[in-house]
Amino acid sequence: MEKYPTKNQKVIDWVNEIAAITQPDSVYWCDGTEKEYKAICSQLVKSGTFIPLNPKKRPNSFLARSNPLDVARVEKRTFICSEKEIDAGPTNNWAHPKKMKKKLGKLMKGCMKGRTMYVIPFSMGPLGSDIAKIGVEITDSPYVVANMRIMTRMGKKVWTVLKDNDFVKCFHSVGSPLKVGQKDVAWPCNPENTYITHFPETNEIISYGSGYGGNALLGKKCLALRIASSMARKDGWLAEHMLIVGLKNKKLGLSSYVGAAFPSACGKTNMAMLIPPKSMSDWEVSTVGDDIAWIKPDKNGILRAINPEAGFFGVAPGTSAKTNKNAIESCRANSIFTNVALTDDGDVWWEGLTDKTPSHLIDWQGNDWTPDCGKPAAHPNSRFTAPASQCPSIDEAWEDPAGVPIDAFIFGGRLATNTPLVYQSYNWQHGVYLASTMGSEKTAASEGKTGEIRRDPMAMLPFCGYNMGDYWAHWLSMGQKISKKPLIFRVNWFRKDADGHFIWPGFGENMRVLEWILKRVNGSAAATETVFGYSPTYKDLNWKGLSMTEDRFDELMSVDKKIALADVGAQREYFKTFKKQKRLPQEFEAELTLLEGRLK
Ligand code: GTP
Ligand code: SPV
Ligand code: MN
Repeated sequence: MEKYPTKNQKVIDWVNEIAAITQPDSVYWCDGTEKEYKAICSQLVKSGTFIPLNPKKRPNSFLARSNPLDVARVEKRTFICSEKEIDAGPTNNWAHPKKMKKKLGKLMKGCMKGRTMYVIPFSMGPLGSDIAKIGVEITDSPYVVANMRIMTRMGKKVWTVLKDNDFVKCFHSVGSPLKVGQKDVAWPCNPENTYITHFPETNEIISYGSGYGGNALLGKKCLALRIASSMARKDGWLAEHMLIVGLKNKKLGLSSYVGAAFPSACGKTNMAMLIPPKSMSDWEVSTVGDDIAWIKPDKNGILRAINPEAGFFGVAPGTSAKTNKNAIESCRANSIFTNVALTDDGDVWWEGLTDKTPSHLIDWQGNDWTPDCGKPAAHPNSRFTAPASQCPSIDEAWEDPAGVPIDAFIFGGRLATNTPLVYQSYNWQHGVYLASTMGSEKTAASEGKTGEIRRDPMAMLPFCGYNMGDYWAHWLSMGQKISKKPLIFRVNWFRKDADGHFIWPGFGENMRVLEWILKRVNGSAAATETVFGYSPTYKDLNWKGLSMTEDRFDELMSVDKKIALADVGAQREYFKTFKKQKRLPQEFEAELTLLEGRLK
């Protein structure tokens, strides 16, 4: 047998170099087979990381509980390491590549002692598609291997496609070496020394200290967004934190794909798998992707999008047969659950899953739990990892290497006040400006306090691999490169009334807003020009089957001009740093002046 499954000398040299530094007990090259997956899961069960779920209720599925200090992305410890600080920009943490590599080099020395080092070849995007990118992740976490097999196209076929070409080097370690004879813990990690670092100029990722989600499954946020956004800028395409959904209505003669960007834990998975209300059952909704979109102009100048992922790493809490039946079906089997609660009959549970709360559970930290104990049973950022192919609404073109044509972009935050349900931008430039100033409440998807409002341009604040000002300029310039510009909309499902209740029912009912958007695309819906953009009036939306009074709708759509005017000032302030760095598109200043004029 040959020593290596690939002849790619760059891979072999890199693997050997890393093994020499990190000193694992052994090196294992993943082949991606079912047999291998089973073996890794069994080993995770043996080591106590995985709890097998009741095979009658949840076949071939497992529960993992993380260290309570390792439960989400850590933005404070995420770095873009470009040669020049200005190329990382004011919204990213920056460190010089040499300095960061020196620091990491020290941590990496012997960091895999007592562990197996796994080599994972993976493709983001359908194997062999010319939009796809190949990465190799080295990790000392078998939990990561199991998740990567669901989330990416992983295995030996990747070597055949890669040949002698370059790949994205993805290094990952939980940063917890074992001394001889030392017993391992169920979730090894190193929260004090966590670093999630990106080197966009050399296409490298080094992630140390965390085993959770986007920190550790490096194909996802690190490669498919931070490194890919930097590649996309150079090569004239877009790597976005967007779902891709197909919307079809034969009766109305409407059929489109749209891309929608919402910040983390703000509704992408839900919209990607939306089930229309009964009264709108003539709509067919199909899922292409729920988190990341790679979007390129084709030879006719039409923007086409692919989902680079093969699975969903979805927020568990709030997901139910009522809110998102397709997600529930997607994780009915062959799935991994992290930080959810365990029921007495060996199934999973989380807040919002069922109307009736079980009288006893084991919570996400492994403790007995009863409804009166005052703590959530599942962590707010608990997640399911499920194969996309198991989603009942998966689109027939979801693996089409050519991608699907995009007719509209939707941008939405989580805002309790002063942001309307929906409006359309006047044009591309205005739309890009609207997306760049989007605010949203911080959620549990990243470590730290939740609820405070921050600007999250294009929902890419934690994910843009270069200067955000250059990213805005790139978006503006893309408008010049395409023959048919998708229309751009802003939405907000999360407005609250004075009593703190959501005014808009959301979920499936969002179909009403999407219907208006698709009718705007084909020119059959009316809109009123307002100071913010084109807005629907009450009569422009389909209300069949939903009781929504005109007053309540007006409350949903209303904007206090005084507050909006104050926000113009806040936006100028926000843009100042970019302006000082000479990275603020002048188009944005023009848009601000125009908005101010309209408001006054
Ligand atoms: P990431 O995977 O972190 O990028 O998140 P996401 O954007 O895919 O978020 P997801 O769809 O998982 O939704 C997160 C939370 O928002 C869940 O608890 C949902 O139940 C809730 N949610 C989603 N859509 C709606 C909606 O239309 N209205 C309301 N009120 N809540 C929603
Ligand atoms: C997000 O935080 O936007 C996610 C989850 O999709 S993670 O993969 O952890 O980044
Ligand atoms: Mn996300």
